[in-house]
Amino acid sequence: MYFYPTFKFITKNLIIVNIAIEDLTQIYPNGNRALKDINLEIKDGMFGLLGPNGAGKSTLMKILVTLMKPSQGKITVNGLDLQKNRRKVRSVLGYLPQDFRFFAKLSTWEFLDYSARLSGLRDSKKRNSEVDAMLEQVGLFDVRDRKANKLSGGMKRRLGIAQALIGDPKIVIVDEPTTGLDPDERIRFRNLLSKMTEKEMIIILSTHIVSDISSTCNDMALLDDGQLVFNGSPDQLIAKAKGHVFQLSVSNAEFDRVNEKYNVISTIPSVNGWEMQIVADEFTEMPATLVEPNLEHAYVYFMEHDLKNQD
Ligand SMILES: Nc1ncnc2c1ncn2[C@@H]1O[C@H](COP(=O)(O)OP(=O)(O)OP(=O)(O)O)[C@@H](O)[C@H]1O
Ligand SMILES: [Mg+2]
Repeated sequence: MYFYPTFKFITKNLIIVNIAIEDLTQIYPNGNRALKDINLEIKDGMFGLLGPNGAGKSTLMKILVTLMKPSQGKITVNGLDLQKNRRKVRSVLGYLPQDFRFFAKLSTWEFLDYSARLSGLRDSKKRNSEVDAMLEQVGLFDVRDRKANKLSGGMKRRLGIAQALIGDPKIVIVDEPTTGLDPDERIRFRNLLSKMTEKEMIIILSTHIVSDISSTCNDMALLDDGQLVFNGSPDQLIAKAKGHVFQLSVSNAEFDRVNEKYNVISTIPSVNGWEMQIVADEFTEMPATLVEPNLEHAYVYFMEHDLKNQD
């Protein structure tokens, strides 16, 4: 079981409008600067936090759920200082940590019932029906009596998200929830979360997998080496790569040179060599067609080029 403080006891009358992060810096005791002067506003809906390994995503999430105090900077939730209102904010939080584990002894149903109690659902009749409804929603009702630690990887993730969602939280923070999931589970998971955004709540989803940031994310941020390098909608990020994604036919002899010189997105074998997609500021050295960028193209283009800190 992952131990985190008992979050959800207080009232739920806080209506979340936004989270404002100002000049946030986190330096670990060993000197690692995991977050560098982050300024960010997060509003209702699904917010995608994207970045490579070590970018600082989990650090930011631990600070947001008040498990860690930042070295510098301030976070407000609806104008309330997070550090000074920890109990109030925790009472409306659901959190799925990156390294989530379960009590070995509990069944799936018992575990979710336990989580529901922590989230403040005291009335046992109401709790029973909410636990059953949530198990249905995440597709675990049929395995409700199975020990939680005997579930498959995908099912464990779904139980993890269920414990974060139970008790009507207003802010849900999920850290790399799709790691290790197969494509079917990943789609299922995305659908589950996007259904949630119909409610008035903030969902913050961190990932290093670009395709997890679906069109359901109305807003996103890109973290790289502790710095916020982009904040905006996925479409705005995609727009930055327009005119910079090229498709070319490359012979076997040219393959290595092109591969070394450019950021290659994909290679498909063709009759005479390879069809390659690359991202580049410009490309004139051989015939190429422009490709309409997608989010993955944009991510590579943005991370590999000197677009950082530009608007
Ligand atoms: N407890 C710690 N002490 C010292 N440095 C740490 C600690 N936790 C994380 N770091 C460092 O801080 C930086 C950010 O780590 P963090 O775990 O927040 O990144 P992340 O974006 O979540 O990465 P991942 O995608 O691998 O989960 C990394 O350089 C990491 O090594
Ligand atoms: Mg992480």
